[in-house]
Order: sequence, then structure tokens, then C-alpha cells
Amino acid sequence: MKIVSIVGARPQFVKVAAVSRALQGHFQDILVHTGQHYDHGMSAIFFEELGIAAPQYHLGIGSGTHGSQTGQMLAAIEEVLLKENPGAVIVYGDTNSTLAGALAAVKLHIPLAHVEAGLRSFNKKMPEEVNRRLTDHASDLLFCPTVTAVENLAHEGIEKGVHLTGDVMYDALLYHSRPGRERSAILKTLSLAPKAYLLATIHRAENTDDPGRLGALIEALAKAGERLVLPLHPRTRETLKGTPRAKRLEEAPHITVTEPLGYLDMLALERHARLILTDSGGVQKEAYLFGVPCITLRDETEWVETVASGANVLTGADTEKILAALGTHRAGAGAFPPVYGDGRASEKIAALMAGIHGEAP
Ligand code: UD1
Ligand code: UDP
Repeated sequence: MKIVSIVGARPQFVKVAAVSRALQGHFQDILVHTGQHYDHGMSAIFFEELGIAAPQYHLGIGSGTHGSQTGQMLAAIEEVLLKENPGAVIVYGDTNSTLAGALAAVKLHIPLAHVEAGLRSFNKKMPEEVNRRLTDHASDLLFCPTVTAVENLAHEGIEKGVHLTGDVMYDALLYHSRPGRERSAILKTLSLAPKAYLLATIHRAENTDDPGRLGALIEALAKAGERLVLPLHPRTRETLKGTPRAKRLEEAPHITVTEPLGYLDMLALERHARLILTDSGGVQKEAYLFGVPCITLRDETEWVETVASGANVLTGADTEKILAALGTHRAGAGAFPPVYGDGRASEKIAALMAGIHGEAP
């Protein structure tokens, strides 16, 4: 069977790397890159490091407003699907590339599979919440990373085609953390000692597009007073450019701001951090999987298990709360139960994809 997989943004490259490896040999897997992310450090480096085959179609859509970006992707993906006439389409996560792929497929009556289905923040102002809700309601196969995700779908009346597979990001993390695979020299390059630094990422629209929130976050990092690494997402760099907040970061002697990092460097930094501060979904999960305590710089999270277990705390963009959590938050060993599956989610997905037309995997 021919499958078209649609990706475009950084976290989707990690997910598709795991799933495409499992699909290999069983399916004709055609990769479409929408071009939502395009800088070398946001896109090509993942293809190189994770051994993802070059996309058969690179749509080159680039940045834009939500409507314009999603609309251009929809038209371009539709053309690919009409030409390829696949047996199924797979979309990943909750970005504009996900929604465009889902809409293109469902309108052409092509069976649609959603990897990372059922996640909810219950905050409709988040573009991702809209994307994932609409995608789930259009999908025929819904691959859920957690029990909570399955329950969220049931509350919305979606039960058919729902499968608890575990999280494909765990598959990717295990694969690339295998002994002998840890190729990163980032700790040495940045002169970091294990467990003696903080790692932070900020890119979520609700934080970058609100000067009050972004200012409060930068203030917390500047006051943290501990060695801290901040790989800066281009969205955040753009917002900070030329502002006093950028100066505040530059002048904080304990902070090292870097370009966005490749996946292997990022995994190494996460694994050896004393604590991670982030508004990223993927980074929250990776912190959990590495057993590293996390402070989530948001008011809510989709990854509720991490908070329930005591591994992750939500501080929002509140400087004082963040600083207090930096002082007190210590997740114990029991705070990391295995809620993201067994690291074989991608294999389960491949087997279930085969069933879509009653074929054996
Ligand atoms: C997107 C996703 C978000 C995901 C994130 C992962 C949507 C609505 N948002 O957010 O869910 O968590 O990716 O990183 O799909 N830019 C560059 N170079 C690039 C890419 C982006 O400079 O390679 C800059 C541009 O100024 C662009 C801005 O970043 O306007 C935002 O990019 P966009 O893809 O629209 O959203 P993200 O914030 O990256
Ligand atoms: N990541 C990376 N380099 C970075 C920041 C993140 O490789 O500088 C990886 C991270 O390890 C995770 C994924 O990108 O696998 C998460 O993507 P992001 O934070 O951009 O998006 P989200 O998960 O919030 O949608």
C-alpha cells in the first residue's frame, strides 16, 4: 500500500523518523514536507541526524499568517494527493501542517491516520488545540500516546478507530540514546558539567506574542542565577530582536543563548540538565522520559500525567512562581511511571496501518 506522510515543523521530523522506520519495507511511504520550518537548524539537520529519507515533495510554503499558511498548504497537498492517490495519509501532532494534511485527505476521501491523537489543553486560543481537535474529528485511525488521550476522545464521542499505541517520541528517544549512539559533544563545547545547569526553551505563541508574559519569563531566567542554556526558537529570537529583554539575556552572565540545536545535542542537554524549563510539548515529555524535573512555563498542559506524578510543575509566566519552583521543585524517583508506552509505538502503528485495507503488515 502507498502511504503519504505529511510533516513540516520540527517536532514532526522526530515523530516521522520513528514511524517511517517502522513502515519501511512494508509500505511505499511517500514523505511530503510542507516547508513550514525551513532554516537548516529547524529542518534539514533533523533529516541528516535522524536518517530520514529526503522528502519526495517539498512544498516550500514557509511562514505566514494562519489562514494564508494553512490555505497554501491545503492546495499544495491536495495536488500531491490527487497525483499519488495513496491508500492512506498520516499526519502528526497539532501544527498547521497537520490540519492542512488532514483537510486535504478527508475531502478526497482518503483514509486518514493521526499520530498523537486525543491530546487536549482545553484552551481554544491555542492554535494547536484547534488543529488537533479538527484533525481528530476528521481521522479514521487515531493513534493515542496516553490513556488520557483515549479518554479525551471518548468524551467527544470518538471511539471508532482509536488505538492506545504509546508515544512515538519515546521510540525516537530510545533509538537515539542507545549506548554508542550518543554522538553529541555539546556539554564539552558549552563547558557544562552534568546536573549543574538548567535548560530552557520558549516558543509557544501565548508566551512570545504577549510582551508581558515574555518579559516575565526572561526576567525569571535572568534572575535564576544558575548556569542556564537557552536554545532560541526563531520565533522568539524575532520577537526579542532589539528589545531591552534581549539585552537582559545578553547581559546575564550565567545564560548561554544558542541557535536552535540539532536533536542529538538537545537530547544530551536534556538528559544531563539539573532541571528543564519549557513551554514545549515535546521537551516536557523528554524531560519526563529522562527522569529530569520540569517547570512548564504555561498555565495548562496536555501532558497531564507528568504533572500528576510530581515530575512537572506548571508556573505559567509568573516570575516569582518560576523562581520559587527553581528553589523547591525536586521530582523523586517515583515521579516517573511509564505512561508513554514501551518504546514500540511506531511498530504498533505500522501494524494498524496495514489493517486499514485489511492487508497483513
Ligand atoms: C509551530 C507550531 C507549533 C509547534 C512549533 C514547533 C503551528 C500553529 N505552530 O510553531 O505548534 O510547537 O512549530 O517548533 O503550526 N521561523 C523561522 N525559521 C523557520 C521557521 C520559523 O525564522 O525555519 C520564524 C518565522 O518568523 C515564523 C515564526 O518563526 O513566522 C513562526 O513559525 P511557525 O511555523 O508559524 O510557528 P512556530 O512558532 O514555529
Ligand atoms: N528540539 C531540538 N532542538 C531545539 C529545541 C527542541 O532538537 O533547539 C527538539 C526537542 O528535543 C523535541 C522537539 O524538538 O524532540 C520539540 O519541538 P518543539 O519544542 O519545537 O515543539 P513542540 O513539541 O512544542 O510542538
